[in-house]
Amino acid sequence: MKGIVFVHFMEMIGEKFGLQMEDHLVSISDLPSDGIYTTVGTYDHTELLELVGRLSNETGEAAGDIVTDFGRYLFSKLAESYGRLLNNIPDVFSLLTQVDDFIHVEVRKLYPEAELPSFQHQLLNGGRLELIYQSPRPFENLARGLIEGAIAYYNEPVQLEKMEPMPGGPNQYRFLLTR
Ligand code: HEM
Repeated sequence: MKGIVFVHFMEMIGEKFGLQMEDHLVSISDLPSDGIYTTVGTYDHTELLELVGRLSNETGEAAGDIVTDFGRYLFSKLAESYGRLLNNIPDVFSLLTQVDDFIHVEVRKLYPEAELPSFQHQLLNGGRLELIYQSPRPFENLARGLIEGAIAYYNEPVQLEKMEPMPGGPNQYRFLLTR
């Protein structure tokens, strides 16, 4: 997983709980990188799960909620750093239907080693959008937070109606949005 994700995660912890918690979390976590992250580096994605698990123990907040909150935070940061990617995308449904074919394609040009999920999409009648998340990694709550962050960014009356596991296998989730 790219360092940019870790850098923003640590930054969120610092903002929410202070620098002391950042240091404490690193000291109690089992991290091959020793918690030293640079935006361009690449680290094992399990380090993020380790940090989230430890933070959950420290704060009592469910791990899934921590990851969802982080996804919301991360979207606002990515939108700042990669604003040019969003320039020609007028609304949240346009964005969500272009994650695979455009956004993450551009991400891969910048970071050839990026580990990206796949999102199939289908527009349904009644102004609904179905997204199917699939990944070798369990970041469905990150997807949820990023979707919520995108809705907040575009400030549209779009609702995430459902998030449900798919029977096909692990790390496969269906999201249903309405507007
Ligand atoms: C400006 C828009 C976006 C940018 C620049 C961006 C960029 C990135 C980057 C750099 C990563 C890390 C790749 C790695 O660790 O190797 C990533 C991962 C991810 N992105 Fe995006 N992304 C954007 C929008 C979105 C949106 C809207 C969604 C949700 C629909 C999304 C879903 C994910 C997920 C779930 C991952 C984690 C990897 C996994 O699940 O396997 N991204 N993205």
